[in-house]
Amino acid sequence: MRVAVLGAGGLCKVMLDALCSRTEHRVVGLLDDHVTGSFCGLPILGKMSSLRTLRSKNIRGVALAVGDRFLPVRLQLIEAIRVSGLQAVNAVHRTAWISPSATLGDGIYAGPNVTIHAGASISDFCVIWTGSIIEHDNRIGENVFIAPSVTTAGYTEVERDVFIGIGAVVLRAKIGALATVAAGSLVTKDVAARTLVMGSPAKRIRTKRELTYHG
Ligand SMILES: CC(C)(COP(=O)(O)OP(=O)(O)OC[C@H]1O[C@@H](n2cnc3c(N)ncnc32)[C@H](O)[C@@H]1OP(=O)(O)O)[C@@H](O)C(=O)NCCC(=O)NCCS
Repeated sequence: MRVAVLGAGGLCKVMLDALCSRTEHRVVGLLDDHVTGSFCGLPILGKMSSLRTLRSKNIRGVALAVGDRFLPVRLQLIEAIRVSGLQAVNAVHRTAWISPSATLGDGIYAGPNVTIHAGASISDFCVIWTGSIIEHDNRIGENVFIAPSVTTAGYTEVERDVFIGIGAVVLRAKIGALATVAAGSLVTKDVAARTLVMGSPAKRIRTKRELTYHG
């Protein structure tokens, strides 16, 4: 399928690696509101508002590569993709291991050496960075960011729009929507929605007021 990537930044670079590591899709260009010309050797086809014109260019798929620093923009684009009729494609690096009994939604990024184990379910537009391990029977909600080298124990439940920082370990727990787990944390208990937790064991730092991943 001919695919356009939305966003020309760091997440775009790693998603391009993942898409190019497999043969299903051919990336023909990018959309970005700030970058013009080309990026990573691919043409910038227009701004994000050009999403609705992609079908006329025979582009049927999109990969969402707007990163964790731009949550409100990312949420708007998810809605725009859904009404566009375009397919949100998964960019799963060929070295990622996905159990045959795991289920993946659409628009997901899974980087090199990610493991998604038996019975886990990953909802639409999740981003799972290098080497993270999602153990068996996890339920990961929509649009969750999982930074590199995170490990979540079996039966962990993560609600939508959560950010889990680099190297965090989550013991079997439930993490509420829009919570942030700081890098390096050890989560031993449930985390309330919209809460930033940090440390080992992770403690509540504050309640988040703004719509950001990082708190
Ligand atoms: C927790 C986090 C969201 C930032 O929170 P913040 O409140 O803005 O943090 P600040 O940078 O203002 O630091 C506040 C204090 O917390 C400490 N701190 C920050 N992050 C910490 C962490 N992950 N673990 C322990 N302490 C941390 C700082 O050293 C600082 O301490 P001080 O007050 O004694 O100087 C951020 O540090 C973090 O962990 N981000 C995740 C980054 C990541 O995983 N990125 C992945 C990209 S792929």
